[in-house]
Amino acid sequence: MDFFEYRGGELHCEGVTAAALAQRFGTPLYVYSKRTLVDHYRRLAEAWAALDPWLCFSVKSCSNLHILRLMRECGAAFDVVSGGEMRRAIEAGADPRRIVFAGVGKTDDEIREALSAGIGYFNVESEAEMDNLGTIAVSMNRRAPAALRVNPDVDPKTHVYTTTGKRETKFGVDLERAKRVFHAFARRPGLDLSAIHLHIGSPVNTVEPYVQSITKGLDLVDALRRDGFGVRAINIGGGYGAHYEDDQAPTAAQYAAHVAPLLKGAGLTVMLEPGRTITANAGVLLTRTLYTKHSGDRQFLIVDASMTELIRPALYGSFHFVWPVRPARGQTPPRRSAQLKPEGAVLVDLVGPVCESSDFLAKERWLPPVTRGDLVCVFTAGAYGFVMSSQYNSRPRPAEVLVDGDDARIIRRRETYDDLVAAER
Ligand code: LLP
Repeated sequence: MDFFEYRGGELHCEGVTAAALAQRFGTPLYVYSKRTLVDHYRRLAEAWAALDPWLCFSVKSCSNLHILRLMRECGAAFDVVSGGEMRRAIEAGADPRRIVFAGVGKTDDEIREALSAGIGYFNVESEAEMDNLGTIAVSMNRRAPAALRVNPDVDPKTHVYTTTGKRETKFGVDLERAKRVFHAFARRPGLDLSAIHLHIGSPVNTVEPYVQSITKGLDLVDALRRDGFGVRAINIGGGYGAHYEDDQAPTAAQYAAHVAPLLKGAGLTVMLEPGRTITANAGVLLTRTLYTKHSGDRQFLIVDASMTELIRPALYGSFHFVWPVRPARGQTPPRRSAQLKPEGAVLVDLVGPVCESSDFLAKERWLPPVTRGDLVCVFTAGAYGFVMSSQYNSRPRPAEVLVDGDDARIIRRRETYDDLVAAER
């Protein structure tokens, strides 16, 4: 699962103790394990090898340049959703021809930048965007490689805010309209409309919604081919689960075992856009306890991380396993689970310093006793953690550290008060 483990009564990331990292780099601190990132990528590559797919690492899940470089070294292609992400991928050495560019609202500037860079595919979300893409490409004397994002109307059974595959969401065009879009645009100058794109939501912790959406997508490809359109590729999106609790999601091999046979022999280049499944368990957020307090019938651990470092609990009510880095009485967690209740445990809310009641990292958890100065680890924070951080309450963003065996290095320095005001001066 990952290389964050308790040994000798304390948390380690690979060969380094979490306490030593906090001591050296301060808190709050994002810590990533290189070995975990590489291991997750390899598991995906092995699971899907029979299709020889493009594994487009979803930059939005964790966009640090050093992590993008590592993904490129592993052999990844990239999935970006903005000019900024494209810039990051290219700066990390990505081959632009192996970048796919998604998003419902690409600006003209972003489209021009992507055409100039020569990116692999635009994942196009509407007729209006397709029209605009064709016009801009013609004006630049280019032909834009395009995949039409199709909304398969499949329920991924995940949080409503991260559901994208249902008809009522803003993403893609419905299956009927998709055919009309090919008829209207596939022969337009400036466009090479030759693929479809599906992405139903995130995280999708079961395989069945993928089977449904890909089956519908392949039916569409058949129909389009019967109508004479040359469909060469299918992008099946991302959303594969991670382990916020132990064994919460299918393995890469389990997703592939059900999905790959559908695609094998379809005569299509296959693309995937995994993010979380690579990065989530590869990162943690270390935080130090500032105060403990009792109020009403609650005990609060007030820590130095908050919703500004990790907004997922506030935004989606999402669960992150939390545990002291050096638990009292050596009570290391036997597994990561919402159900643990060690002997002598206290029921706590883990909250930050930000002035909002939504500022919590965990609620109603049984933890070994924690006192002022103790370090607590928030697990499975590598995806949609730092990337969604903010400076709200004028809090400088935390540092990011990449651990490789016994070695740890800063991959993003902690922001300073000067950084807070730099763009305003
Ligand atoms: N492809 C497309 C078109 C996407 O929209 C996404 C995620 C991905 C791929 C990658 O999904 P992944 O494999 O990482 O699950 N902030 C939310 C998640 C938002 C996901 C947005 N799209 C969270 O913290 O759970």
